[in-house]
Amino acid sequence: MELRDRTVMVTGCAGFIASHLAEELLRRGNRVVGVDNLSAGKREFMSGMLSDPNFRFIEGDLLTMDLSAPLQGVDVLCHLAANPDVRSGATNTRAHFDQNIAVTYRLLEAGRESGVKDIVFPSTSTVYGETDVIPTPEDYGPLLPISVYGASKLACEALIASYCHSFGQNAVLYRFANVVGPRSTHNVLHDFIRKLRQDPSSLEILGAEPGTSKSYVHVSDCVSGMIAGAEAARQQVEVFNIGSRDWMTVKDIADIVTEEMGLSPEYRWTGGVMGGRGWVGDVKKMLLSVDKLAALGWQPQMSSREAIRRAVQEILA
Ligand SMILES: NC(=O)c1ccc[n+]([C@@H]2O[C@H](COP(=O)([O-])OP(=O)(O)OC[C@H]3O[C@@H](n4cnc5c(N)ncnc54)[C@H](O)[C@@H]3O)[C@@H](O)[C@H]2O)c1
Repeated sequence: MELRDRTVMVTGCAGFIASHLAEELLRRGNRVVGVDNLSAGKREFMSGMLSDPNFRFIEGDLLTMDLSAPLQGVDVLCHLAANPDVRSGATNTRAHFDQNIAVTYRLLEAGRESGVKDIVFPSTSTVYGETDVIPTPEDYGPLLPISVYGASKLACEALIASYCHSFGQNAVLYRFANVVGPRSTHNVLHDFIRKLRQDPSSLEILGAEPGTSKSYVHVSDCVSGMIAGAEAARQQVEVFNIGSRDWMTVKDIADIVTEEMGLSPEYRWTGGVMGGRGWVGDVKKMLLSVDKLAALGWQPQMSSREAIRRAVQEILA
């Protein structure tokens, strides 16, 4: 997929990952049309872009807004807007259906009518469900997600693949490990830091000691992987995992957060749900194989531990 000199729509551009991706695309000389309803994203995350003549921001809700005018002249659709909250799927299933599946469908319909040729879509490690192959490669199956969020992203992958086949488009689908870094607003690091600021002597941790084992990737590695994957993609629908090469437990994360905050609190494990998961739909073990993207020249620069430590320092700063 060619990215150079093309006009790219980035949905969710005021959010965590998309704001970094949009910045990188502008740095590389692309024209970027950003769309966000600022429900989770923040205008301040776009402060480096808003004055760039190659950037146009449209505030709007992708579930209801007219999409044909914003998509005029767009070559590549990078669709990052979503409800990314895995936990909420156990209580509010509708949000994942609307914000993930219905919004993706609307964009695909408007995109094919407007002549959008290429689609970039961030999916998630949660589409794999609970795998017995670790590190999990892209061709693992069957894909049986255990969260509504994972199911909604898998449905989006399927819709995108079918549009590519039916309407002659190309797509790159990325399955991300847990992404951390500046401008993140909701993850385990924020949860721990918020709780420790309230009570530095004890830390409530969801789950059973030592917690789930998962892989974490810094947003800088995530964005470089997205660009590398898009440029290397040769199949009509290409799937790449993006993550680091190791994993760590929730206890390891708590140890790094408390060390960086200069605290030694007592850990209070909640015991979790369904055999020690942090919440319903929480996968217990996740480590993605990144060999496919690595064979094309990309490497994560940070391990999970390095990514978590860097992200904690960035949040505290
Ligand atoms: N953060 C992770 O660890 C992770 C892991 C796997 C996949 N992903 C995927 O990456 C993408 C970005 O995630 P993120 O963590 O940066 O999330 P985020 O919440 O920071 O960003 C999502 C953005 O989309 C916007 N948005 C949501 N619904 C919208 C709508 N209807 N109309 C317009 N804008 C809307 C929000 O305001 C927000 O700015 C998502 O698709 C998510 O599923 C994230």
